[in-house]
Amino acid sequence: MDPKIVLSVLCFAVLGCFIEESLQSEPSFSQKTQLKFASKTRYQRRNFTYEAPRNCEPLHISMVLRHGTRYPSRNDVEKIDKMLKVVNEVIDPSTQKHIGDLRFPWKNPFSRTHDKLLTSVGEEEMYNIAKELLKRFPSLLLRPYRPQNFDFISTGTSRATQSAMAFAFGLYEGRGGLGPSRFQPVSVQSREVNNDPLLRFFDLCPKYLTEVAENKTALLEYKKFKHGEQMRNVLQKVSSKLIINPSVISEDIIVGMYTACIFEVAIYDRANTWCQLFDDEDLMLSFVGKHSQLPENATDPSIEEKKYGTFMFAHGETLQPLYALLGLFMDREDLKADNFLKQLERKYRTSYIAPFGANIAFVVYKCTARDGASNKESECYGTKTFIVQVFVNEELIALPCCGKETECPLETFLQCFDSKPNMSCNLSSLCSVGSSGTEKSRVEL
Ligand SMILES: *[C@@H]1O[C@H](CO)[C@@H](O)[C@H](O)[C@H]1NC(C)=O
Ligand SMILES: *[C@@H]1O[C@H](CO)[C@@H](O)[C@H](O)[C@H]1NC(C)=O
Ligand SMILES: *[C@@H]1O[C@H](CO)[C@@H](O)[C@H](O)[C@H]1NC(C)=O
Ligand SMILES: *[C@@H]1O[C@H](CO)[C@@H](O)[C@H](O)[C@H]1NC(C)=O
Ligand SMILES: *[C@@H]1O[C@H](CO)[C@@H](O)[C@H](O)[C@H]1NC(C)=O
Repeated sequence: MDPKIVLSVLCFAVLGCFIEESLQSEPSFSQKTQLKFASKTRYQRRNFTYEAPRNCEPLHISMVLRHGTRYPSRNDVEKIDKMLKVVNEVIDPSTQKHIGDLRFPWKNPFSRTHDKLLTSVGEEEMYNIAKELLKRFPSLLLRPYRPQNFDFISTGTSRATQSAMAFAFGLYEGRGGLGPSRFQPVSVQSREVNNDPLLRFFDLCPKYLTEVAENKTALLEYKKFKHGEQMRNVLQKVSSKLIINPSVISEDIIVGMYTACIFEVAIYDRANTWCQLFDDEDLMLSFVGKHSQLPENATDPSIEEKKYGTFMFAHGETLQPLYALLGLFMDREDLKADNFLKQLERKYRTSYIAPFGANIAFVVYKCTARDGASNKESECYGTKTFIVQVFVNEELIALPCCGKETECPLETFLQCFDSKPNMSCNLSSLCSVGSSGTEKSRVEL
């Protein structure tokens, strides 16, 4: 038996990256707002046409969602503050210099007290995802709410719990019995923040903590990139836009400006402030790192009797290991400081797969009288067969372990996990390390 999995780097780094060609004209507002900001990207509204598999009826949906767009962390607010301290000092306000709507002195709209709270943008993301889901699976989701039929589970953070509430509101709007708006209160099972093996297993996994989250070496590629040639190039360009001496700003200041830029867009939809300092190509954002493999039985969809829906609200660190477990978005090469240009079309792009509001849904169907054209296996189960479909951010995808079929026989789906010892889910053995000894340098999602 080979029980050990590769627990590799999960290093969320947000970097500006430089591509050789330069842009002739300033990108328009709409172009900029479509830029991707790695894991700090707003959820992009989807409009995929969806058709249920033929002769199939959905029985159950299990979903894991990342909370909606949130305010910057305290740490990010501090980065912006530090940057402003320098920039507001070197730029004389009496010159009335401005770039787009960026004016000086700039006041940071984000405060430390907002620390990662859900924003109204994030509430809307959850609400809209629920509405879309309702359109797709009315037979399942238009059933009246009963706590025994639908689970809403969230981590103990306010952004996840509020996301659950916003989602449930979207799902049951006008269908409850309370008050003139016919509100439907739902039970949200909010889990303990510091002891949550279901949705915050990353906090309880010593191996992950030592080898990844608190491992300074794991951020090596990020640091190489941050102090590399491309970043110096960006620094030069930003200084000349601001007409300041490049020596007064450092890479950390650039990171502060960039942080201001991404949250201005995510929360206020303002691409014409700090983002104006960066050329379009400098805003091609990178996710540096490898997949993290963290098997966990808890996030597998389970088919409970009469459980029509299970909706779990959690974090980027919940979703990304789950993708890895399922073998999704694997690239052949790791993303590194020196190969990002080659990697622009990589599969593992957090802005697409793990933005705010990112979600994965597992839908189990019962099917009858399926013609065997594309589905030989189903014949083995007689006239009735169960299949699973998986959706990432509402888009139907094929799991590698289902032979790249988007209609995966339930048996096959379950075997994906049973047959592989390294996917068996013993958290305590997967997460054990020889020694402890931890330093705090968590990257926050
Ligand atoms: C898990 O084990 C299978 C064989 O049992 C192997 O092919 C696969 O590469 C392993 N995956 C990881 C992530 O270690
Ligand atoms: C979604 O797509 C359909 C068909 O492609 C189109 O008719 C509809 O207007 C689109 N809706 C939105 C909100 O883009
Ligand atoms: C930290 O990460 C590096 C790079 O992934 C790895 O080689 C090293 O073993 C890790 N350190 C620990 C203590 O796990
Ligand atoms: C995960 O698996 C372990 C061992 O099989 C089991 O004890 C535990 O209850 C499972 N957790 C969940 C949430 O199903
Ligand atoms: C999980 O692994 C630990 C350590 O290897 C072992 O002691 C325990 O019995 C295992 N639990 C299960 C349910 O297999």
